[in-house]
Amino acid sequence: MKLFKKLAIDLGTANSIVWEAGVGIVLNEPTVVAVGVDDAKILAVGNEAKKMLGKNPEYIEVIRPMEDGVIADYEVTEAMIKYFLKQVMGSAWFFGPEVMVCVPAGVTQVEQRAVVDATLSAGARKAYLIDEPLAAAIGAKIPVSEPFGNMIVDIGGGAAEAAVIALGGVVTHKTVRVGGNKIDKVIMEFLRKKNNLIIGEQTAEAIKIKIGSAIKLKRPETMEVNGRDSVYGLPKMVAVDSDQIYEAIRPLLDNIITVIRDTLETTPPELVADIVDRGIVLSGGTSQLRNFNTLVTREIGVSAHVAPEPQFCVIKGTGIALENLEVYWRAIR
Ligand SMILES: Nc1ncnc2c1ncn2[C@@H]1O[C@H](COP(=O)(O)OP(=O)(O)OP(=O)(O)O)[C@@H](O)[C@H]1O
Ligand SMILES: [Mg+2]
Repeated sequence: MKLFKKLAIDLGTANSIVWEAGVGIVLNEPTVVAVGVDDAKILAVGNEAKKMLGKNPEYIEVIRPMEDGVIADYEVTEAMIKYFLKQVMGSAWFFGPEVMVCVPAGVTQVEQRAVVDATLSAGARKAYLIDEPLAAAIGAKIPVSEPFGNMIVDIGGGAAEAAVIALGGVVTHKTVRVGGNKIDKVIMEFLRKKNNLIIGEQTAEAIKIKIGSAIKLKRPETMEVNGRDSVYGLPKMVAVDSDQIYEAIRPLLDNIITVIRDTLETTPPELVADIVDRGIVLSGGTSQLRNFNTLVTREIGVSAHVAPEPQFCVIKGTGIALENLEVYWRAIR
């Protein structure tokens, strides 16, 4: 019998995922927590809390404790990790688990320390950290240990991070705090200005997934959207078309393209040559935005493709690193 469980955790801005060594993904829930305003009591975590977003009465606050890949609310994050560990461990475990958590390549020492502390005080026996771009590359089945340059771009809910990996480590990286959440916000703003229509975050996300695209669609699509009129305050329905959404979100997509370009510009030329040969790999939930790879290929001039199950690359890679510590120890802190 194994005495200790080993877990990998991806604390994403949008979604938190837990992997158990030898098992695989055992939990995948939104990074959302509902808290009582008066007593700071945790009322719901994950799926249950996300359902409350935009529908909560005044005495409940619905919080996203991670912002742009780093902890924005320490207490709530710690409580959330505790809840996740409890879900995964059950009550039969006497010893806390060993936990590996991935952190964006650009985080500060203080931010790293906060992740380790929160994980330990949530009940972990040991906490390790791994760079998220490296984890994403391992999860995308890129042969990270070879002496070749590979580029991975992870576009999540809070941030887009471009990185070049070679010989098992991150060589260059750049991050921009633009991801799916900001795209949703821009869609909300656009409808409020253009149509006097007020919608919630979840509706904006649904619009993005249904008719959003990173390049203009040859055959534009429309979608009927329900919200509230900002002038009259009454329910209202508006038909939105994909061209309008494309125009609204394009500046954000340009920010992501810029970060890829800047990363390549600081990459040693030999590695750039490898990347041109091998192509750019995209991961993260937002890489699923329609035609995202086409936009990258067009703007950067290097072929880009989306990894299989892109939203799980980071957790898979973190899990694989946890299961093969002897291979990846150099990259682990
Ligand atoms: N089909 C889709 N098209 C466009 N966006 C999508 C699609 N599916 C999911 N997303 C977006 O992906 C984002 C979540 O991605 P992911 O789970 O990789 O983020 P995260 O890891 O929590 O965030 P981060 O890595 O920035 O901290 C959300 O904004 C979601 O709306
Ligand atoms: Mg992520």
